Amino acid sequence: MLITRDQIAARIAEMGRQITRDSAGEPVIFVGVLKGAAIFLSDLIRAVQLDATFEFIGVSSYGARTAGPEQRLAWDSSGEVRLTKDVDQSLRGKNVILVEDILDTGLTLTFLKRLLLGHQPKSFRVAALLDKPSRRKLAIEADYVGFTIPDVFVVGYGLDYGERYRNLADIFVLAGIEA
Ligand code: IMP
Ligand code: MG
Repeated sequence: MLITRDQIAARIAEMGRQITRDSAGEPVIFVGVLKGAAIFLSDLIRAVQLDATFEFIGVSSYGARTAGPEQRLAWDSSGEVRLTKDVDQSLRGKNVILVEDILDTGLTLTFLKRLLLGHQPKSFRVAALLDKPSRRKLAIEADYVGFTIPDVFVVGYGLDYGERYRNLADIFVLAGIEA
């Protein structure tokens, strides 16, 4: 076990207070990235005291997780990340907070940031439950980070390995898996 449910709850309460302070008096749309961020989003939105709504967006990446020294992540040219579900409303003029389970190489977030900025939101911020900065391939950071973790593969609290383990209440390191 890497992060317990109690640690997650305490940290999300803090993140909720910080987002509430930063967005005071403003409506906010939280955009969760399916499926991993669904559980984090559901807890985070209940930790803010704001005029809040939420949406989901879906992406899929081709082979980007089959790590190796020759791994290439040229998302811009190869179309490595693909949109599978768009948001249901325009985000133009809105305060958007993109909610991600984990920021790893930065490929997904870079793709989504470019896409969502195309909507011309009033503001754009990112909340990531977990951050693995040592894995970054593209220079991008989240505005709110729950926990910075080392280069290990984690499951639970929304994070999966082959779609399994998302329903674990705590976050675990999956033994024997190269992150
Ligand atoms: P990135 O595009 O490399 O930043 O990857 C982000 C996505 O990779 C996350 O939304 C997760 O779906 C997946 N991912 C990265 N690291 C892990 C992990 O340790 N466990 C489970 N999923 C992960
Ligand atoms: Mg994911």
